[in-house]
Formats: sequence, structure tokens, C-alpha cells
Amino acid sequence: MARSKKSSKKPGSKPASKKTVEEIVKKIKESRAMREREVPADEPEDDEMPALEPSSRKEDFPRIEDEGVPPLEDSEEEGGDDGEDDDEDEGVPSPSVGAAPPSPSEKAEIPKELEVAAMVERTQEFEPIAERPASRHKVLDSYTFLSEAIPVEISILRKEDFVPIYSISIPGIAGGTKLLLETKLRAELISDVKLDITEILDPKKQQMVKAKFQDSAMRVLGRNFAQLPESKMRILASYLIQNTLGLGELETPLHDDFLEEVVVNNSRDPVWVYHKKYGWCKTNLRLKNEERIYDYAALVARKVGRQINILSPLLDAHLPSGDRVNATLFPVSNYGNTLTIRRFSRNPWTITNLIRGKTISPEVAATIWLCVQSELSLVVAGGTGSGKTSFLNALSGLIPANQRIISIEDTRELTLPSFLHWVPMVTREPNPEGKGEVSMLDLMVNALRQRPDRIVVGEVRRQREAEVLFEAMHTGHSVYATLHADNAQQTISRLVNPPINVPEENLDALAGVVVQYRQRRKNVRRTLEFAEVQKMGKLNTIYRWDSKRDVTVKSGNLSSIANTIELYSGLTPREIDAEILEKVSVLNWMVKHGYEAVNEVGSIVSHYYRDPEEVLGAVKRKAKWEF
Ligand SMILES: Nc1ncnc2c1ncn2[C@@H]1O[C@H](COP(=O)(O)OP(=O)(O)OP(=O)(O)O)[C@@H](O)[C@H]1O
Ligand SMILES: [Mg+2]
Repeated sequence: MARSKKSSKKPGSKPASKKTVEEIVKKIKESRAMREREVPADEPEDDEMPALEPSSRKEDFPRIEDEGVPPLEDSEEEGGDDGEDDDEDEGVPSPSVGAAPPSPSEKAEIPKELEVAAMVERTQEFEPIAERPASRHKVLDSYTFLSEAIPVEISILRKEDFVPIYSISIPGIAGGTKLLLETKLRAELISDVKLDITEILDPKKQQMVKAKFQDSAMRVLGRNFAQLPESKMRILASYLIQNTLGLGELETPLHDDFLEEVVVNNSRDPVWVYHKKYGWCKTNLRLKNEERIYDYAALVARKVGRQINILSPLLDAHLPSGDRVNATLFPVSNYGNTLTIRRFSRNPWTITNLIRGKTISPEVAATIWLCVQSELSLVVAGGTGSGKTSFLNALSGLIPANQRIISIEDTRELTLPSFLHWVPMVTREPNPEGKGEVSMLDLMVNALRQRPDRIVVGEVRRQREAEVLFEAMHTGHSVYATLHADNAQQTISRLVNPPINVPEENLDALAGVVVQYRQRRKNVRRTLEFAEVQKMGKLNTIYRWDSKRDVTVKSGNLSSIANTIELYSGLTPREIDAEILEKVSVLNWMVKHGYEAVNEVGSIVSHYYRDPEEVLGAVKRKAKWEF
């Protein structure tokens, strides 16, 4: 998309003094007008919606903080509040703990001229990237998607910066309309909806709450934009609801399936995103102030019945969509309040996804499939964000339908085929009084009493968890768990050393280690190695990824795994090889026909277990599968 659009204007801080601000506004408008004249003539305007200017419109001033210059908002408040910011909260207190320095006493000493000068400087510095002439950017990519009903355009731009710019534009909603929606109409919506705060926070009532907000939003918009067609009204309603019930401006990137992560480091820097194709990018989005970041963190916390405040400034939680959220507050995070949102994969990862994306070769996948079929326990290792949980999801989809699976996670990330015999469980943090905690260990001990055949564990971090895990393996359960380690050797050494401390002689209950790897340079994820675990934790690497050629190389033969399979199923090494080849053909056939959805893969795998000839017949005929 080679267009550089005017991006959204966020309502800003209160001006220091009306007269000075008017002068600055004039100056900024003049400089913007000059720049707009430089924009190529074919630049389309984005103002499809009426740009209604509320009489109480504020100008777009970012908050000024740190670097010795106090926030203008606050200094204005000292001189008298004009009440324009009252729409900020929906009855949600913004405690001062969420705010960044400096202290009020420091503010009083700063001369007004300095504040204003700094404000002009900041305003120019923070000017939305998308408003600059397109000629200065190389457009790497562009695409569109819907954020609920809102059409969004994304351009990935390369400019002088070290990282690409992820530029968001919402062509259907003009800047003035946005401002009106975020202020007056949002306040109207809140007073129009007749709902209790407990209803709003109840995850089970989500659909009902959203429907009520939708009705109210349409009513409020009908009053304010009487002539607007219903389709456009729905777009505005979505925007209004996202800004009232959801995470406001962050909702747009959170609906982009190309993104893995959306992070806010503070209110001065742009929001960053991790793009599947381009890695880390800066966005043209910036949160208004530290309080807003705090408000979002507090909202996420309340929805899961938790709190984030000065006494507990760290939060791990998740959104109703399943996205994982971490939040930290200033001064623990020194530059300001932070939010780190890991987008939950809307399409659960399957083994065929991974093969098609070249993460794993069909041979390695088939070997691991045989291990899962043969009830052998495996650990999935890898670094942060390397794809451990995604691999665990793909692997769990290979478990036979007639076996009982119990999964244990801190936040629900796994999604297995709907027809599997599966009991997903999640841990719970203690309440503010320190009561009610259900730890991973509690769940693991409890899982053993639920007669599981397979236990799937989100992440093993501590000794007691590992002890229970190995105990489960020794008592005849097959266990799949993730562990943070960069390679198979490190996995073993993490397991046997503090704080996990598994005795070496216990390690042979574990059949193998699969290591996931994210190569940052090329931004690809690969299965780095698959190794079997022999006596006393000795490793035999069967497959290893050759990074230079981007191929997986066989570096050893199954030994302890082959012995165990032979012991329990009577298959000779030659028959094991034939089994693996057979599975390779099934996997290749599934990939060829695009069977990647979790239920599709699960259904074929289950049919294969029940009646292999039926599936192998389709594979031989290269026929489609009748689901
Ligand atoms: N093979 C893959 N190819 C492309 N993207 C992947 C692959 N595996 C995972 N991802 C994506 O990478 C991101 C991180 O994946 P995942 O959560 O599985 O990693 P992780 O190792 O479990 O992370 P953490 O250490 O934070 O628990 C997700 O957005 C996921 O969709
Ligand atoms: Mg994970």
C-alpha cells in the first residue's frame, strides 16, 4: 500500500495556557499544511466518515514527561481543570502508582516557557509517522484486515530507522470522528448501558455484555450521526466498544494475525509489535500517558479477578481471547509502565502446519508421531518464544482419541481436537490476602488422581514439578512438557542441576527431547534437534537442523527408543523404519491436501489409529479425505 495516510490523532494533554497553546497549534497547523502540500497528488484522503468536530475538542498534544520537563497536564490541573479529561475512566480509579515521575514539587519549579518549548519540540517529534511524505519510505508490504467491524490498513515501511515501521491506518474513521468517539460518545455509551460492573467483568457474560453495548452504541451513534448508513454505523460502534470495553487503540494490532506480540514499553515510546515476517517493528501508535497503560493493565487484571498496584506491580494474566498478558508498573520497570501481549494463535498449531512451514521435516515429525503413538514421554525445549507451546499443541494432537489427557498450564494456550478425551486445567494465583492459590504442583498431584493416560504440562520450572512429572512417567503415564533450554544437552543439564535436581538415574523414563529454535536473523522457526535420552541422561541425537543449508540431517539411529518400542509392541528395528516411512507418506499427503486444521488433523490421525488401511488407501490413491 503505497499510500501514506493521516493516522489517528489521540486526544492529548491539557494545554498549559489557552493563549500559548493556540499559538502553538497555529504553528503546528502551518507546518503540517506545508508538509501536506509536499505529499504526492495521488495521496488518497482517508476521511470517508464525517469529521465531526466537537465543540470541546482538544488538540493533539502528547504528554511530556521525564527529561526534567514535567507533564503539562498536571501543571494545568494545578491552575484549574477544564474537565475535558473526565471521560477517561469508566469508574475505574487510576491510582497514582501507575504514573511516572516527576513529582509535583519538581514540576512547580519549571518555568512555563520551558514547558511550552518542550511541548512544541515533543509535538513535532511525536508527529504520526504516517503523515510524512511517502517518498521518504520504502513500502515493504501492505495488507488489510478487519478489527471486528473496522477495516484496517497496514503498511510496513522502511525508513531511516533501524527497524521497520508498522503503520496502522483506519481509513473509514476520520481523526475528528475518532476524537468524538473516544470522548463524548464513549461517555454517552457508558451512561446508556445499564449494566453492573460485576456483569461487565464476568467472563461468562461476555457475549451478553457485548450485545448490550452493541445495542447501546448503535443508539448513541443514531443520535449523533443520524444520516450515516448502518454499515458505517457498525464500524463506528466497533470502535466505540473497543475503546470502552477493550484495550482501545491496542485492539487494532491485536486483531492482526501477522503479529505475534504487541508491547508497550512506556507512554513516550511507540508501541512495538513482533511481526511474523518482519520481526520487531515500531508502530505509529503511542499510548497517551502512563495512566492509560496502567488502566489497561488494571482492566486485564480485573477480568481475571486479580489486581496490579504498587504492592504487586507485576501481573501475568490473559485476555478473554486467550492472549497472554504481562504487565509491570513504574518504578519496577524504570522507563514507565509496560504491557507485553503474546497473541494467542487463533488457529491452533498442528503437525501439518509445522511441516508446511518447514519448521520440521516429515521424517522427524513421523518419528515423533511414532513416539507419541508408542506412549513415550517427551520434553519440548527451546528458548523464549521459540515455539515450544505451539509444538506441544501439534504433538498433543497426535494422541489417540481413546486415551484420557489432562493438560496443566498457567494460562490456557493449548487447543486439542474437539473429540479427544481431554481435561484442560489451569493454575490460579493467590488472592490479595494470599489465599486460594492453585499451583502447577497442586494440579500435577491432582492430575494423577484423575486416571490420566497422558499428562501435558505447560512448563516445568521447579524441582517439585519435575519430581511429580518423573514420578508420573515411572508410574506408567506418558508425559509431554516444555522446558526452557537452548538445546538437548542444556535440557539434560537443566533437569539434573539446581533448582530442578532430577536424579540422573531417573532420566531414562524420558524417551526424547525435541528442541525448537527461532533464528532471529532470518526470522524462521525450526526444530533444531531431536535426541533420544539414554541411561543416565546420555543423549543420542537422531536428527539435527543444518542452518547453512536449511535442511534436517539424520545424525544417528534410534536405539533406546527402538528398544522400548520393541519391548512393548514387538516391532523390530526394520518394522519401526517401515512405520516411520508409512507415517511420512500420511503426513505428506495431509500437507498436500491442506489438512491443517486441528480437527482435520485429529480426525485423520484418529482414523489412522482405528483403521490404518482406510487412511493408507486414500494416501495411495492420492484421494481427498471425506470428513
Ligand atoms: N513453527 C512456527 N512457525 C511460525 N511461527 C510460530 C511457530 N511456532 C510458534 N510460532 C509463533 O511464535 C510465537 C511464540 O510461540 P510459542 O508461544 O509456542 O513459543 P514459546 O516457546 O512457548 O514461548 P514462551 O517461551 O514465551 O512460552 C507465537 O505467536 C506462535 O504462533
Ligand atoms: Mg510457551
